[in-house]
Amino acid sequence: MTRIKIKELLATPPTGQTVTAKGWVRTFRNNQFIALNDGSTIQNIQAVVDFTTTDESILKRLTTGACISVTGELIPSPAKGQTCEIKVTTLEILGDCDAEQYPLQPKKHSLEFLREKAHLRARTNTFSAVMRVRHAMAFAVHKFFNDRGFSYIHTPIITGSDAEGAGAMFRVTTLDAQNPPRDENGKINYKEDFFGRETNLTVSGQLEGETYALALGDIYTFGPTFRAENSNTTRHLAEFWMIEPEMAFYDINDNMKLAQAFLQYLVRYALDNCGEDLEFLNKRAQEEEQAKPQDQRSELGLLDRLKFVAENDFQHLSYTEAIDILKNSTPNKKKKFQYLIHEWGVDLQSEHERFLVEKHFKKPVILYNYPANIKAFYMRQNEDGKTVAAMDVLFPGIGEIIGGSQREERYERLLNRIHELNLPEEELWWYLELRKFGSAPHAGFGLGFERLILFVTGMTNIRDVIAYPRFPGNAAF
Ligand code: 4AD
Ligand code: MG
Repeated sequence: MTRIKIKELLATPPTGQTVTAKGWVRTFRNNQFIALNDGSTIQNIQAVVDFTTTDESILKRLTTGACISVTGELIPSPAKGQTCEIKVTTLEILGDCDAEQYPLQPKKHSLEFLREKAHLRARTNTFSAVMRVRHAMAFAVHKFFNDRGFSYIHTPIITGSDAEGAGAMFRVTTLDAQNPPRDENGKINYKEDFFGRETNLTVSGQLEGETYALALGDIYTFGPTFRAENSNTTRHLAEFWMIEPEMAFYDINDNMKLAQAFLQYLVRYALDNCGEDLEFLNKRAQEEEQAKPQDQRSELGLLDRLKFVAENDFQHLSYTEAIDILKNSTPNKKKKFQYLIHEWGVDLQSEHERFLVEKHFKKPVILYNYPANIKAFYMRQNEDGKTVAAMDVLFPGIGEIIGGSQREERYERLLNRIHELNLPEEELWWYLELRKFGSAPHAGFGLGFERLILFVTGMTNIRDVIAYPRFPGNAAF
């Protein structure tokens, strides 16, 4: 019999037809009720075995985590909350699971505990739901851009350029794994010149993306990016995925409009297509909220937060206006964080961002026109001589979810900035040539994919929205 996925079975009218399902046992109760899950949906299907006719030795092997195949009649279920169940006629154990050793018990485990079991945690409701939503979001990213005529460009992972200045990088070295060259102390000698120069893992595909925007018009990248920052926070990973659209003939305002449309599309897509998983994650987030002190609970539940963001315009605010608001607010008498901003020109801390989004405006904020000195060299210089056409999108509970800018398309201005910042002009020759040969106004931004998934799933630690999180001290496999 061909196996049918449980998601499909649960949507099939039960008329006693014979079906086969395969999956992992979640629970086995009263020697007859198997809750079976195959990852196609958060829901289990109930498979009922007849213990009077089933071999005792088989029943014993129906432990949590065991992989089985069941064949039987699909019949209406008398149990509450499920439309159908399988009346099992044939049961096969595909993979035993020793209950004594299996780390996942049919109870709630802490996320910290599950992080240690990264190879098994996808078998829990929480992680399977997060991963299905993550998949849906990746699909929606491509759909959004494809529908608008953007081309998906694969920018290099290994790169010689260090131009972004986004943070510390991972160095790429080569090694003959069969026969690594060793020094007299037995230490491996890494060769570093495979590409004829030092290379790193990319921190952003933007600069390469720009070269394609000035040829194809509208492009985007969507790939892994690497930052060797030693930051142990709930918002940073050493390896994360970033989506970077880059558009010829866009200015900063077009860029801000696209960023809002894109985020709203993704959130709407999740609401429309991930209903069951979001319902589950909503309940989960509610329980977490209840455990917090009253004044730290968010006012809206997950689903309401998503609807709000999908339906309301984001607040546009210049950096200068933001500083004024922050200077004039005393939101938290104990912390007095407003005094952390000594003067115009200082970068905002995440607590400032959160204040603006969560307390002051109570909606997503797009901050723009930042001081040039706290932003990257490639951002377009404004006429005031102090600011650049940068923009960050700040989200409730997340902080910065998008960073972007209009790019400096004027050759002389860009070259001067490169000199001012002592950047290696000779390494940026190709980037400068773009401004020599048919330069055009253009703009783009980067969305941190995991930060999006945090927002959409209501999870609170970025390590829980990627299959194998990479952070300082964590790359066991
Ligand atoms: O603000 P960032 O550094 O911008 C860039 O890399 C630009 N090249 C983007 C562009 O204009 N094409 O990073 C963009 C986004 C951030 O807003 C954040 O969401 C995410 O990437 N991000 C991280 N996510 C997880 N872990 C980290 N260490 C991250 N660093 C940035
Ligand atoms: Mg940024």
